[in-house]
Amino acid sequence: MKIFIFGCLISMLLMGGSCKESAQLRAGSEAKVTIRYLTAPDVGGFSKEMIRKFEKLNPDIHIEMVEGPAAPNTREDMYSASFMAKEDTYDLLYMDIAWLPKFAAQGWLRPLDDRFSKESQAEFLSGDIEGSKYQGKIYRLPTQSDGGMLYYRKDLLKANGLNPPETWNDLATAAKKLQSPPQIWGFVFQGKQYEGLVCDYLELAWGNQTTLMDGEGNVHLDSPQAAQALGWLVDAVHKDKIAPPGVLTYQEEEARHMFQEGKAVFMRNWPYAWNLLQNDQSPVKGKVGIMPMVHGNGGISAATLGGWGYGISSFSKNPEAAWKFIEFAASSENQKLSYFKSGILPTRKALFHDAEIVKASPHMKELGQVLSHAKARPAHPLYARISDSLQMHLSAALSLQEKPEAALAAAAKEIRLILTSK
Ligand code: GLC
Repeated sequence: MKIFIFGCLISMLLMGGSCKESAQLRAGSEAKVTIRYLTAPDVGGFSKEMIRKFEKLNPDIHIEMVEGPAAPNTREDMYSASFMAKEDTYDLLYMDIAWLPKFAAQGWLRPLDDRFSKESQAEFLSGDIEGSKYQGKIYRLPTQSDGGMLYYRKDLLKANGLNPPETWNDLATAAKKLQSPPQIWGFVFQGKQYEGLVCDYLELAWGNQTTLMDGEGNVHLDSPQAAQALGWLVDAVHKDKIAPPGVLTYQEEEARHMFQEGKAVFMRNWPYAWNLLQNDQSPVKGKVGIMPMVHGNGGISAATLGGWGYGISSFSKNPEAAWKFIEFAASSENQKLSYFKSGILPTRKALFHDAEIVKASPHMKELGQVLSHAKARPAHPLYARISDSLQMHLSAALSLQEKPEAALAAAAKEIRLILTSK
């Protein structure tokens, strides 16, 4: 990549051309179109395989997938910086459900209504379609469904006569009983200051009968229930000591590695982890159960609705080629491939009844229960700023720089100001 960027700079200086043009020349024919997009590291290798297949079928299109940083909000910043400069660096966006209102409101996305008909939309899960719309128009073709949940070591629970936990307190009690740090910890989650931490926290807040923001735009973070939820997470690290101190640097993959190596009893994560935990080399293969996230006393489980899909940049000069690739990526065949290779949950309803998927997925029923508890983060054009503020204060509380109530009161104040800003 470094060599490529350096090469681009030289060609831009010598020939006055863009990086994109030089990639097209490198591809050997001026007629060949290059479509570039930014995405997460290709865990499991699905995207590379799909791109190889696509390029074979479409020799006139070259797909350049840039594997960016794992934290979604960092990739969001990279896309935003490019679009603010009105650059055509990225033709496609591989987009988190949480980014859509901002990107659409900024005019950075092409509406897809002419290409993605209502009949085709009906083949997809409704939450994924709703999360792809802004002000009545559709801007994203969803390819990955997501909902946060709890993974647990069913072998360890069974051997100790314990049932899967329902409440946070059950989880802490079971974790203390079963852990033996540093060999095996009770609970791992996404504790780093980034979007994943907001997702984890919201599940606890929703599970304790409160929310970040209601439908009327009122912020509820300075409620006792919200502080209680954060207090539980802080205690998990510092008082109950069921989570390793390093959890404050964990994203999804760090948590998955710990759990997969047999070093944690419980893990909060997304569905993608399942297939990886079950592969033949995995020390925990066959020893894992999943269930909806634990909740507060008197609350009910909640899952953060996640999910990814493709949109087309307003600045792309090649929307036709971009759409060709998007349609291919969202086909049943490729969604199946992504499920088997990378554990990515499909968005096409029919695939949840596909014989091969059902046969290979003993956890489908529980997965259905998890997704039925899914709740969306605020679909607001200023969500990125709202989340930044919340991330900062959640992280300050987790590192004991702020008390939970004070951290959330400060976040609530900032978010109210953000909501009244233009
Ligand atoms: C998953 C979800 C996404 C969320 C992210 C947080 O990728 O699909 O919606 O923002 O995790 O890390």
